[in-house]
Amino acid sequence: MPRRVLITGGAGFIGSHTALVLLEQGYELVVLDNFDNSSPEALERVKELTGSNSLDFVEGDVRDLDAVNRAFDCGGPIDGVIHFAGLKAVGESVADPLRYWDVNLNGSRVLAAAMEQHQCRTLVFSSTSTVYGEPEVFPLHEQMPTAPVHPYAQTKCAVEQMLGALCRSRDWRVACLRYFNPVGAHPSGRIGEDPLGIPNNLFPFITQVASGRRDKLRIFGQDYPTHDGTGIRDYLHVMDLAEAHSVTLGHLFQATAPHQLTLNIGTGYGLSVLDVVHGFEQATGLPIAYEFVERRPGDVPKLEGCPQKAKDILGWSAQRDLAQMCRDGWAWQQANPMGYRTNP
Ligand code: WQD
Repeated sequence: MPRRVLITGGAGFIGSHTALVLLEQGYELVVLDNFDNSSPEALERVKELTGSNSLDFVEGDVRDLDAVNRAFDCGGPIDGVIHFAGLKAVGESVADPLRYWDVNLNGSRVLAAAMEQHQCRTLVFSSTSTVYGEPEVFPLHEQMPTAPVHPYAQTKCAVEQMLGALCRSRDWRVACLRYFNPVGAHPSGRIGEDPLGIPNNLFPFITQVASGRRDKLRIFGQDYPTHDGTGIRDYLHVMDLAEAHSVTLGHLFQATAPHQLTLNIGTGYGLSVLDVVHGFEQATGLPIAYEFVERRPGDVPKLEGCPQKAKDILGWSAQRDLAQMCRDGWAWQQANPMGYRTNP
């Protein structure tokens, strides 16, 4: 019998790519999503790409116990959960911290309570490399102390701790995946990242400049202590990240004892903003206009993690390079200049 998996936030950027990978592997899925920052069209396209109908969908908010219970009750028993649903904009979390604590922490608490009720105790949680705060020693290892500096990272850290307590008190199997910076899109160009309004993040901003939707990229800071003065991050292809979820889930299903696993999920290689801009220009042949502006408040000079633990435990490592991230991200942007909205 195929395993049945609940994906909260499964219509979003990482969720839709993960749903696609799991369907291709023969899982049955239930997606719970409130479309706060995502589109049902993404799920239609996941079905179309996989040719699979093993995807049920419940519209609802993860903070709403009735909605979560409906997702648990809409087919056979759920064997495991991947929890993506949440808010992820650092600046917004500083401006509206209560909303972040409500959606990210309370949403996770309601989900965990429903899981207990249904005796489903296998969970992959979407955490973040920003839990390390403003580190000075690199690369980052999972056992290093967490020191989150904004409400977004604080809520993710708190959920990691809540889940740790569940693993210690009951028979839970939990993996917290600390993502670095996922970018790119499925190579078909049918699903991808669809930010609302002006993108906060570097990569969708670059693809929108390339398509002419924005006139130029503003690079935040040129005097960081890095090789070219611009900020360094570990960018990874969203398909590599989606595959990391599927191998993590497989690992938890094999586990014979309760445990909590915490893993960095990145390539291990940091790239500066200018490295990404030039890499994009090279991969696509398109010029990216940019100007330097002030540093963005809250940005750290560098985030670079060691993904060795994921390799040792899961056998997973990122397979796709920057050129592929750029080609695939650009193919998505080109085919869907306004994201999902104008391309029903
Ligand atoms: C990358 C670099 C910017 C935009 C984000 C999410 C966070 C987390 C990881 C998971 C920085 C620079 C950006 C622009 C720029 N996800 N930049 N001009 O800040 O690392 O964090 O990904 O946890 O939720 O917010 O990513 O893409 O915003 O920035 O110069 O218009 O690009 O200063 O150096 P960030 P980002």
